[in-house]
Amino acid sequence: MPDFASRAHTPELMDGDDVDFETFHGCLADLAKVNRLTLAYRPTLAFLNRLRREGRWPADRPLEILDVGSGYGDMLRVIRRWAARRGLAVRLTGLDRNPWSQRSAEQARGSAGIRWLTEDLFDHQGGTDVVLSSLFTHHLDDASLIRFVEWQETNARIGWFVNDLLRHPFSYHGFTLLARLMRWHPFVQHDGPVSISRAFSRRDWTEVLVKAGARHARIEPWFPFRLCVSRVRG
Ligand SMILES: C[S@@+](CC[C@H](N)C(=O)[O-])C[C@H]1O[C@@H](n2cnc3c(N)ncnc32)[C@H](O)[C@@H]1O
Repeated sequence: MPDFASRAHTPELMDGDDVDFETFHGCLADLAKVNRLTLAYRPTLAFLNRLRREGRWPADRPLEILDVGSGYGDMLRVIRRWAARRGLAVRLTGLDRNPWSQRSAEQARGSAGIRWLTEDLFDHQGGTDVVLSSLFTHHLDDASLIRFVEWQETNARIGWFVNDLLRHPFSYHGFTLLARLMRWHPFVQHDGPVSISRAFSRRDWTEVLVKAGARHARIEPWFPFRLCVSRVRG
């Protein structure tokens, strides 16, 4: 049982080297259901809306968006629909180090026109307008997380948005129960609570941002049990 005072280091099953495609795909497909049910897309769409309101959406070309740790790619498909309804031009790229992610995302309906890359983020070259991630940063240890924030500061021309979890015992126990009731994939039943125990408090993020030289980033809680971090360049 984690103590929730600090981040746990328990490994997630989906990060194992020997996970086959069917298992990884099944886990990601159920994770997309979790994302829908837990309103996971809203904070990221609100960030994109903020860019639009603040006049940061390029008028003469598509906004380039890179989703790091894109998994099944459902966030990018939701963004594609959201942007299309508003007549906003986007160029969407999903990046994930696991090759099963690209295969899984390519098979999903609504993925046409989205570019999928199989690469570790720290090997990725080339900037973009906006870097997004969702349920990704808790996979990183503290040192890699600082490096990731620095990487975003270097690579995102307009801004970046981290959408991740708040570490909280209520959410840990609640999700454990919900995942069993919904009979989600065994990996989701295991990795969901582990993800919450590996996730963040506001204080953790404050320390990371100071160490990464990104004090101007904004930390914002989102219902239910999300803690998001955003940065828009001045
Ligand atoms: C929990 S999944 C999240 C998937 C999706 N973003 C979502 O919200 O459902 C985390 C993903 O991050 C990927 N990942 C972990 N470390 C990575 C790295 N260093 N570079 C790129 N992808 C990474 C994993 O392969 C996995 O697909």
